[in-house]
Parts: sequence; structure tokens; C-alpha cells
Amino acid sequence: MPAPSAASRPRVWVSQPLFDDIVARLGEHFEVGATAQVTVWSPAQVAAKLRGCDGAVVTLNERIGTAEIVQASSLRAIANVGVGYDNLDVEALRARGIVASNTPDVLTETTADMGFALLMAAARRITEGERWLRDGRWTQWSFDTLLGSDVHGSTLGILGMGRIGQAIARRGAHGFGMRVLYHNRSRLPERIERNSRAARVDFDTLLRESDHLVLVLPYSPATRHVIDSTALAKMKPTATLTNIARGGLIDEAALADALASGRLASAALDVFEGEPAVDPRLLALDNVVLTPHVGSASLATRRAMAELAVDNLVAALGHGPRAGDPPTPIAGTIPGKDTAKR
Ligand code: DGY
Repeated sequence: MPAPSAASRPRVWVSQPLFDDIVARLGEHFEVGATAQVTVWSPAQVAAKLRGCDGAVVTLNERIGTAEIVQASSLRAIANVGVGYDNLDVEALRARGIVASNTPDVLTETTADMGFALLMAAARRITEGERWLRDGRWTQWSFDTLLGSDVHGSTLGILGMGRIGQAIARRGAHGFGMRVLYHNRSRLPERIERNSRAARVDFDTLLRESDHLVLVLPYSPATRHVIDSTALAKMKPTATLTNIARGGLIDEAALADALASGRLASAALDVFEGEPAVDPRLLALDNVVLTPHVGSASLATRRAMAELAVDNLVAALGHGPRAGDPPTPIAGTIPGKDTAKR
């Protein structure tokens, strides 16, 4: 089949720099509008970029809803680089017949590693200890310096037992001998519960019994501030709270109060409701570990996410490894696969 002329090739936009060699693969099929530098796009700029495009690869930074697609009459596919897709108005895209995809699976283990690292950092006061040492406050070894809580043998609570939740459960159960409790809308198949040695409990029991609670559930208006002052009041004062999902799951003002008053021992947050802005009260506290939304940020995983997003877009726009073949099935297409499981 002869290669289509440049003028007739579909146009795609890549909203942020990914890996040049991976983005270059789009050039085999499309006219590519790449982005050379990390850019904060306004909604109006996103709308302008999408106008005239057939597809786009976007990140969580770009919110895409009715206003952004209203003038994008040729837009057929959006490939989100990330498993979470709360930046997309899925209903608006679906109504316009625009295929949306995300990047599940490829980041599961890496994000679970980060969740566990944060949990341990909060429990054993690792970043607090480093700051203390660097500040020159370590004058002599002492018996009661920075006493934390044990991870091994404790109770791990997981709110949102999708793929990443299960991977954290396996680490806790098999690596650290933890008792694992989870709360989900529905009970998981017995085989999965056995594999991760996890038992389903109601939300209140999860809050009351967890020594280390990890949030891994998708964000939506229904899950906004699922951890609020009422939920925090039910947790053990010795507990830790880790969030690797989306910042809006936690009422950050209530969390800051709980941490400041000693109502909760410590927290570890990789995500924030107004990120990249972080509540100044959290910044001022010693008993919270703060990282800049890097849960899936290993080089191998970020490459795998970019590859999958590019594959998704190529397939959604009807191209593939063999011209003329039907499109490759799109991994993680929102209208098909269940992408609500993180
Ligand atoms: C995800 O995959 O949802 C991460 O938060 C990065 O986008």
C-alpha cells in the first residue's frame, strides 16, 4: 500500500514531552505536533491544539471535556498516558464517539513499590530523620530517637483493591507477614483474595483496624474527600495513611489537623488536591512524607506507559503494524475494558 501523502495524513498532538524515540513512531502514520518542553496548557490552548487533530496523546495535566472538544470536529481518539483518567470527561468523549484509552497494567508493580516505600517511610520516619540529621540536630545516639511503628506483622489496610491495591497486598502479606484487609465496592474472587491473603471488610472496620492504610481507589466526585475528619477520627492514633492515587480523595485540611494534633501518627502523600500546589500546613509538618506525584516514575515503566499510549492511539486511528489489517485491539479503551480498576 503506498504511503499516504503528508497532506492526507491524520494529525495528532502530543501534549507533553515523552520519549523522542517513542513519539517518533507516531510519525510513521501521522503528522505529529509534538511538545518539546513541559508546558502548562490553558483550557483554551488545549482546545486550540485539538482543533484539526484526529487524535492526541495527553497526560493528567490536560483536562479534556466538552469545551475542549467542541471545535475539534475531526477528533477521534484520546490516549491518556496514565492509568487514572479523571482528567477526561469520559461521558463527553463517548457522546462524541471519541475513543479514550489509558495505560493500565504496565505501571502496576512500579506504583505498588512506591506505595510500599511511602508506607515504610511514614512508619519509620525516614524523611523526617534525614531532615533532622541534615539540620545538624544529631548530637549523640540515643535510645528514643525517632521511634516509629512496625510494618512487619501489622495490619495493612487497602482502600481500592484493583490491580495496584492487590500488588501492595501481595508485598505486605508475603514480604512482611502483614494481615491484609481491604475495602472495595464488591468482594474479589476467592482466588485473588487467597493470592494476596486479603479479607474484605466494611469501610469503618478498615479505618478502625488498619495500622497502615493505603489509598488506591479511582478519584471521582463520589470518592472526593472519602478520607475526611470523620474517617480520620476512626483511625488508630498510631496509624499511617498513604495516598498514591489522587489528592482529592483526602480532605487535606482535616488531615493537617489530625497530623498536627497527634490524632494520626503520620502520612505519606504522593498526590495533592491542588497539585502542584501543596497545602502550606502540610509543608510545615514533620510527620508527613511528601513526594511530587512520582508513583509510576521508574524509567522502564514510564517508557512502557508511553509505548502503550502510542500503541493505543495508532490502533484507535485505524493503523497498526500491518497496513490493511483491522486495528490492534486497544488495551484499556475506556468504553470496553474495565479501567476503573487501578
Ligand atoms: C496514573 O497513571 O494515573 C499516574 O497518576 C500518572 O498519571
